[in-house]
Amino acid sequence: MKQPIKGFSKLSKQAKIEWLAKEYLSNPNSQEDGSEMMELLKSYWHSDEKTQKLHDEFIENTISNFYMPFGVAPNFLINDKLCCIPMVIEESSVVAAAAKSANFWLERGGFKTEVLSTKKIGQVHFAWHGDSDRLKSFFNKIKHKFYEGTEKLSANMLARGGGILDIELVDKTLEEPNYYQLHATFETCDSMGANFINSILEEFSKILEFELKNDLTLDDSEKNVLIIMCILSNYTPECIVRAEVSCAIDQLQLGADIDPNEFADKFQKAVHIAQIEPYRATTHNKGIFNGIDSVILATGNDFRAVEACGHTYASRHGKYQSLTNVEVKDGIFKFWIEIPMALGTVGGLTALHPMVKLAHKILGNPNAQELMQIVAATGLAQNFSALRSLVTTGIQKGHMKMHLMNILNQLEATEEEKVKVQLHFTDKVISHKAVVDYFRELRGISTATPYEQRTV
Ligand code: MEV
Repeated sequence: MKQPIKGFSKLSKQAKIEWLAKEYLSNPNSQEDGSEMMELLKSYWHSDEKTQKLHDEFIENTISNFYMPFGVAPNFLINDKLCCIPMVIEESSVVAAAAKSANFWLERGGFKTEVLSTKKIGQVHFAWHGDSDRLKSFFNKIKHKFYEGTEKLSANMLARGGGILDIELVDKTLEEPNYYQLHATFETCDSMGANFINSILEEFSKILEFELKNDLTLDDSEKNVLIIMCILSNYTPECIVRAEVSCAIDQLQLGADIDPNEFADKFQKAVHIAQIEPYRATTHNKGIFNGIDSVILATGNDFRAVEACGHTYASRHGKYQSLTNVEVKDGIFKFWIEIPMALGTVGGLTALHPMVKLAHKILGNPNAQELMQIVAATGLAQNFSALRSLVTTGIQKGHMKMHLMNILNQLEATEEEKVKVQLHFTDKVISHKAVVDYFRELRGISTATPYEQRTV
């Protein structure tokens, strides 16, 4: 039986790998001693020691690196400026879909984007016993102390044009006895702001405790407060970016056998289905996040925060709905996204990870608002491509074309075999079985199942 290990994080990287190999990668019943796995882990170390050390120190207990493809989708015309978008993603068809959409809209005016608002939110959650009106007047009396007491912490942010925008006392006692919040809004400029906001909130909680304790007008029973927690909210419904594409319906030519009006109509219906049907909305929005997350990852931002925020926003009307909208009116097709997104172009990994730095450079070192617009355009592009395929050819044609290489790699096909198989499937339906069958045929291996091979 396995035993827990104490002090693992203090071991050297080599010792951690040896422990892992012994405990989890070797098999006492066979010759397997984990050495092959140790070699695999080490083969993913960066050849430059300094770069590897940087990666080791991003998290605790690093033993190796995990490669993800870093691709680019060129030809994104965003507010009349051409962008080449770096994307980190494992799903084979995503970059191809983004690039296809970018090319389509390049010819039709490109993406128009704007940031609608940039407020971030943080809350001190606390419990207090007493008359809530007395707490409200106490809060109004000492509200200025929250600003004064955090001046030092805010100084840099203030110099950059940001800081604390407002602090409110929110009475939540109807939902949870004695529960209140200090609900604060912030402007964090080009940083995502998590550290800034959390530090300010923790200071707010100390100020609240101190001021309550030392207030001469409060009774003893009113001087106590239980600080439950201080944390930013990843839900930022007032930090919104919008991206839009539009064109005349007759410009929606997608091929000889697809009528632009019919396409616009089916496309509109598909978006409406995602607005009324959560099963579809989830997949629809997942496709949007294929684009969004891959740029967020490439630019060193927090994709979990952006996802969580987007999904909450998608449910803001009490039901999970599409993040994109469409309008087909007066001969014009208009398709847009409005989505909250808290991004940073300074701080975090942005100044540390060499590939993240490169991604920012490819994008022309955007500020946070510019990055929000690039990301929103990529999400919209991704959704356009997905819906375009879904309402015309079906998704599998393009998807399997891109997945073909994964199947061939699984089969350990040679370069020559890959070319032959790709050529063979240019005009055929690709399925896993069809590829395996053709591949076996190429190698002269019978494709018959054991059942079919049986001689009666
Ligand atoms: C696949 O990763 C994403 C799609 O399913 C999105 C969609 O259905 O809209 C193609």
